[in-house]
Amino acid sequence: MKLVAIVGSPRLKGNTNYLVDQALNEAAKLGAQTEKIVLSQYQVNPCLGHDDCASFESCQQKDDTTWILDRFREADGVILATPVYYYNVSAQMKAFIDRNYFPYKHDQKYKARVAGIIIVAEQMGIEDTLHTLRQFTDELSIEKNKIFITCGYANRIGDAKNNLPLVEEARKLGRQMVESLTEGS
Ligand SMILES: Cc1cc2nc3c(=O)[nH]c(=O)nc-3n(C[C@H](O)[C@H](O)[C@H](O)COP(=O)(O)O)c2cc1C
Repeated sequence: MKLVAIVGSPRLKGNTNYLVDQALNEAAKLGAQTEKIVLSQYQVNPCLGHDDCASFESCQQKDDTTWILDRFREADGVILATPVYYYNVSAQMKAFIDRNYFPYKHDQKYKARVAGIIIVAEQMGIEDTLHTLRQFTDELSIEKNKIFITCGYANRIGDAKNNLPLVEEARKLGRQMVESLTEGS
């Protein structure tokens, strides 16, 4: 069982990355193979919007997005994690979401049947951010009861780590994703 986390925060030691690590560690303890992809570490260009994906066998942008999308589409479970930037997902996460237009236009399927959403804000904007990510998980055709959500407030590096209920929620998200994938098997 493979879980892939896509992280939209460029702060490698920041709150979002910390919570994602907690979720993935718990999932790994239950036997999942895990991978974390921090978008800012790669070249993920914004969509060019020519709306002609179907004419091409591969996305015309030669950056890291194609292999990231391949890993994402082949995972059994996916985590989408972002800090709130101006009341919504970070630019890195939005660019990644938009680049899913190529698989969409080619009717390429996503294997994932379980998703996790992790959002961190200083004080406001979680609802709109959650709405954006839930709309995206709808595009992946993941059932609503298989989406696990951890949202919380933190600002400076270390804030999330010191928020023990939030840390426990992230760990629970990791466990629930694995349990949901192994149910009935
Ligand atoms: C460009 C930028 C925009 C932000 N916009 C918001 C916002 O709209 N609402 C909010 O509550 N926090 C906002 N924040 C604060 C971050 O969401 C907060 O610091 C969060 O903990 C950062 O997560 P990270 O440590 O994973 O990078 C913003 C931070 C930055 C850098």
